[in-house]
Amino acid sequence: MCEVDKAEALRRLEEEIRTCTRCRLHATRTHAVPGEGPYNAMVMFIGEAPGYYEDKQGKPFVGAAGRYLNKLLAQSGLRREEVYITNIVKCRPPKNRDPLPDEIQACEPFLDRQIELIDPRIIVTLGRFALHHFIPGASITRVHGQPRKIGKRLFFPVFHPAAGLYQPKWQPLLEEDFRKLGQLVQALRENPDSASYEQLSLFPENGEARGDTTQ
Ligand code: URA
Repeated sequence: MCEVDKAEALRRLEEEIRTCTRCRLHATRTHAVPGEGPYNAMVMFIGEAPGYYEDKQGKPFVGAAGRYLNKLLAQSGLRREEVYITNIVKCRPPKNRDPLPDEIQACEPFLDRQIELIDPRIIVTLGRFALHHFIPGASITRVHGQPRKIGKRLFFPVFHPAAGLYQPKWQPLLEEDFRKLGQLVQALRENPDSASYEQLSLFPENGEARGDTTQ
């Protein structure tokens, strides 16, 4: 698909998400939140679900967790405008409750299509809901900050920024993980053809075969 078609396909997909009625969450939302960022972003961030402010504005990560995410991005040397940011579930669950399994299931095809179209080199999962979409049952406390190759992409799990706000003890870990992410992105920019982070000689201690990822 050519670049113009890709951009148009993503715009149409975002429109489809805005008008979706596949699950009960459409009845209580103000706006669906498809995601935002360039159609050809090298890095995609995936959170859990929109909160109060995201629902009001139709944009991802614009509340307190979003401000902290912006700070982490800046520290890692990434600009928010150059990454794509979305969520597992595109509509706000009432009172910010956890998304239910059938809501996640109804929404997942949208995420899969976003990934296919944008084709990011790196997917950063924010928190356990996004992590479990790709690595079911993995423990975030064990795997955060460890890049892992699945298919042609690198997955980089980190804690959810909201976890850092509620529990400041997680902030140094989040900041360290975003620093590593910045290094990874920089290395991929310098060596765009390298197939994996092992070839980039980054984080050799975090081999793919590290094994036990379950709780
Ligand atoms: N938390 C999320 O997981 N996503 C948002 O968009 C905002 C807060």
